[in-house]
Amino acid sequence: MIGLCPFHDEKTPSFTVSPTRNIYKCFGCGKGGNAVNFLMEHEGLTYPEALRNLAQRYKIEIEETGRSEEYDELKSARESMQIINDYALAHYQKELFHTDLGKSVGLNYFKERGVLRKTIDQFQLGYASPKGDGLTSTAIAKGYSIELLRQLGLTNKNDRDFFFDRVIFPIHNVTGKVVAFAGRQLSKTKRGPKYINSKESDLYHKSKVLYGLHLAKTAIRKEDVCILVEGYTDVISLVQSGIQHVVASSGTALTIEQIKLIKRYSPNILMLYDGDPAGIKAAIRGVDLVLAQDMNVQLVMLPHGEDPDSYVNKVGTTAFRDFLGSEATDIVHFKARLVREESADDPVKKAALVHDIIETLAHIPDAIKRSIYIKQCADLLAMDEAMLLAETNKVLSKRIRNKRVEKFREVRADQTRGGDAGFPSREEGPESGSVVQSVQIGDEFQEKDIVRILIEHGHKTYKKGVEETSVAKHVIAIIEETLPAFDNDKYRKMVELYREQINAEKQITEAYFLHHTDPEIQQIAIDLCASPYDYSENWTTRVSVLRTQPDPDENQVRDSDQALLRFMLRKINKMVEENQKMLMQQQEQNASDDQINLHLGVHQKLLEKRVEIANQLNTVVF
Ligand code: CTP
Ligand code: MN
Repeated sequence: MIGLCPFHDEKTPSFTVSPTRNIYKCFGCGKGGNAVNFLMEHEGLTYPEALRNLAQRYKIEIEETGRSEEYDELKSARESMQIINDYALAHYQKELFHTDLGKSVGLNYFKERGVLRKTIDQFQLGYASPKGDGLTSTAIAKGYSIELLRQLGLTNKNDRDFFFDRVIFPIHNVTGKVVAFAGRQLSKTKRGPKYINSKESDLYHKSKVLYGLHLAKTAIRKEDVCILVEGYTDVISLVQSGIQHVVASSGTALTIEQIKLIKRYSPNILMLYDGDPAGIKAAIRGVDLVLAQDMNVQLVMLPHGEDPDSYVNKVGTTAFRDFLGSEATDIVHFKARLVREESADDPVKKAALVHDIIETLAHIPDAIKRSIYIKQCADLLAMDEAMLLAETNKVLSKRIRNKRVEKFREVRADQTRGGDAGFPSREEGPESGSVVQSVQIGDEFQEKDIVRILIEHGHKTYKKGVEETSVAKHVIAIIEETLPAFDNDKYRKMVELYREQINAEKQITEAYFLHHTDPEIQQIAIDLCASPYDYSENWTTRVSVLRTQPDPDENQVRDSDQALLRFMLRKINKMVEENQKMLMQQQEQNASDDQINLHLGVHQKLLEKRVEIANQLNTVVF
């Protein structure tokens, strides 16, 4: 089945679903997986959440093992708490719409702030009357537990309602369940805090909740950016103005959990803060956290004294959007401006801040973009551009060097064979006139092809002459020894998994890898199995007439032979190269003739083998 991809914008469909394999794959954006992954990706659920969701939908009972009775109790307590929260939500909505005070005071408050009925419904806003025990008394009458009402923070110690004489903002989790409430006082003149919030409970961990996310998630994915604001009313006003990809951190400084929550939908965050010192401070603190999560962040500082709610209501949606577009500043510029403003006459502070910026600059992967930033930074800070560039490059090359050393170590660890002082670390060019040319790119392609053969044909019969076995057994027997030399750990792992299953006499099918719990392995399997191409009708009808060769599907022997030969050729080339390196090294160290002759002998054998394989592949070896 093919259709438009839900994960990226497209006009021609490239999203495929294979009901037989139970997988989806988009050939536009590359996303792929099974039903569970789809829910995780599309609804932003965690793995257990997705499983429970599916189970519920298809009326499958899940037995959660390894869980104690306490957990069951906790679970049912949580379910009861959810029921109570839902009841409280309905209660506050009823008070808003169906009581005289609600209509005159509550609705009037929202009306004066320009909140439309549609928006009130969307955010399920409510009203708590000054009476003081309306919620608690009716909830008790319905038989709800006073203990749980207290745990949820809805009822006080003395059995009075926690929220009274306030407008109510329900706080939802990602799936749209009400987990907490915030109450805002109705007039500025009142004493006491402007907002009060439900306390934390088993349902509500405020560091893990973002206000408005349940409504914004689809838009965040579509726009591929999440606007982050400070207040409930900011979210509400922006959504009402048609800017839907917006959430608030609701009463806390931004937390890592909240950032990870956003990351499920987009790697980009646009932070919208007041332009006052407090706002700037909050923004900076947030930015570091966001960057540490490997996300991109831009900042917009609103004119002094405005918040997103007041500003969008003042200038209107279009101007507001334009403002975001023109004012969004990336962190580099933002920091540069801070250096200029904050540390103008403090050289020590300035130096520290500049080093900080350089570290940030060196994180920009695109060289052109980086150089533009460097130039702009130099201008902004009145510093020498060449110096800034040199310093950034220093940081960069240090990072690259570290990476290389790391890579080299990995390769060394892979080369279990030999175990001697190792090979020269210089990176030679291709040896002239030799087929080893592409060895340095690595053998991942050939290794992947082996995995493909295993997944696609592994269970089929391999019959050649008298030999009759399975494709998997045949292939694994041949390549087994080279496993430690695989360039790609995942491919090696997959072959090893296959081998384990065979050794345990287990039948292994495509599904084993397609639904594997290791997401990387699963992804590789999906990429290998899902093909954007299908046999055309002509092929199927014509091939039966012509029949010069079997369908590729049935061509397992030839297919696996070819893949094996290409793989072996690759490995032999590698061995030739390594042997040559050792030979050269020993010559340099004046090793004994015996040792050198040994390597020469190996060299000869390898060349013979290479010619043999190349002949089978009909490839010319230069
Ligand atoms: N906040 C809070 N408790 C307070 C004050 C603020 O939890 N006593 C949180 C709320 O999430 C609030 C956010 O901080 O939405 C921003 O506060 P503020 O800017 O003062 O409120 P606004 O959201 O702008 O609300 P309003 O426009 O109604 O004044
Ligand atoms: Mn406000």
